[in-house]
Amino acid sequence: MGAGYVGGPTMAVIASNCPDVQVTVVDINDNQISKWNDDNLKNLPVFEPGLAELVERTRFKNLHFSTNIEESIKKADMVFISVNTPTKKKGIGAGNASDLRWIESSARLVNRYAQGYTIVVEKSTVPVKTAAAIEVILKSISSDLNELENHKSFDVLSNPEFLAEGSAIKDLQQPDRVLIGGHKKSAIEALEKLYLKWVPGEKIIKTNLWSSELSKLTANAFLAQRVSSINAISQLCEVTGADVQEVAKAIGKDSRIGSRFLNSGPGFGGSCFKKDILNLVYLCNHFGLSEVANYWEQVISINQHQQNRIYRVIVNKLFDNLSEKKIAILGFAFKANTNDTRESPAIEICQKLLEEGAVLAIHDPKVSELKISQDLGKKPYISRDNKLKSNMNGVWSYAKDIEESLISADAALILCEWDIYRKVDWNQMSKIMRSPSWLFDTRNIVDEYSVDRTKINLWKVGKGNLNE
Ligand code: NAD
Ligand code: UGA
Repeated sequence: MGAGYVGGPTMAVIASNCPDVQVTVVDINDNQISKWNDDNLKNLPVFEPGLAELVERTRFKNLHFSTNIEESIKKADMVFISVNTPTKKKGIGAGNASDLRWIESSARLVNRYAQGYTIVVEKSTVPVKTAAAIEVILKSISSDLNELENHKSFDVLSNPEFLAEGSAIKDLQQPDRVLIGGHKKSAIEALEKLYLKWVPGEKIIKTNLWSSELSKLTANAFLAQRVSSINAISQLCEVTGADVQEVAKAIGKDSRIGSRFLNSGPGFGGSCFKKDILNLVYLCNHFGLSEVANYWEQVISINQHQQNRIYRVIVNKLFDNLSEKKIAILGFAFKANTNDTRESPAIEICQKLLEEGAVLAIHDPKVSELKISQDLGKKPYISRDNKLKSNMNGVWSYAKDIEESLISADAALILCEWDIYRKVDWNQMSKIMRSPSWLFDTRNIVDEYSVDRTKINLWKVGKGNLNE
């Protein structure tokens, strides 16, 4: 249940590794399902390297996308709940707690339509003890069913997903580990049997339900904490003449620290880090652990600070005035190799630049103009000749290529580490930009020697000036 960023890729990988298993992905959103069934694989709703090929091989064979939830649940031996669990917007816990309405409605649908024995697998990220609520819902007897139809039984498992967007297929094919939490040995073994088709047994960890649910929130909190830690150090590097990439390399060689997740950037984005930490904070407060809650809250504060300070650096370097200045935004997704923009740092940074009067030419290889427009809450400016004029204020347009975004630009801002941005010829670009021009590299992907020979001024996150 749930044909989103997790449900789609996860089930495609299960289908491809288990040809004898029929997998049906259902969603309440018709539009989403039609995109998954589109003949043109470029129209799949999720972009992930390798996903389209997998879908092409398995779709209409043992991988199906459907809106017929009732029939699909009736036929299922195992139901994976992969629905959204965003932060609650209203009521108790608003701004922190998870909104579990989609989990609850999924459990109710399973309760209503399942036949015989069904294993219900919690794949969504949920607060600890959610499985207990699902169990209660599943065990409740629907008043509109007759006694015969109520002959059904369930076991609930927790099987959190650890894939990262942009590398989802690789992460699913070769996971660091698969975590299965549950009370019932036979149910755990049934799910394990599925994974054993392609995951080595020693990588499958079995725990109790609550450890499994909590491990998912903890893993995301630890990963986000590393990003906030290196981002905090990036600012110190800038004022001391140190270089955050050198520091990251030096500390990452310590096997106790490890080298991954030490890239300083514009702050973490994505649909999960912030919401999962907020959820952790809510849980800690709920159990009266205010010091623990405060500790984790700092990870989010530093992230917010990083986004704010990058916007301030740009304003400051452009003489504290962005009015009518053209800035090329390179990358709008929250990271490279995905079309997902949820919580992308680009959204808030662009909104602030627009408030200052900047004229933005936004480029991203996979994010559509419509998505950017929805995220910014502002329609693009479209002139008859499709060009931005220099006498405009606080408008944006969609740039079809990098060069178009840089024509007469006062600055370029790299927000995402897409490979094509590594390959830009800044020597050529300096000729089409307006001088004095700036390049703000928030991902540390530009080779500074290639910019040294141009008229462009370069700012890199976490890169201090040796002479200061
Ligand atoms: P998503 O918003 O992309 O997809 C969720 C889908 O569930 C939507 O298409 C929605 O229409 C559908 N849905 C809601 N209620 C339904 C119902 N009753 N029946 C059928 N479909 C229903 O979300 P996502 O990014 O795939 O995340 C899903 C869960 O997985 C979340 O809990 C998230 O925290 C977790 N997670 C996400 C990622 C990631 O990289 N995005 C990674 C690991 C875990
Ligand atoms: C993250 C986790 O990595 C997954 O294990 C988890 O399953 C998933 O959240 C989830 O629960 O949704 P994801 O958000 O897709 O995956 O992507 P990450 O690679 O973790 O990146 C998150 C953010 O941190 C991005 O904005 C990225 O640019 C940023 N980041 C990451 C850095 O700034 N520096 C780094 O070194 C690493």
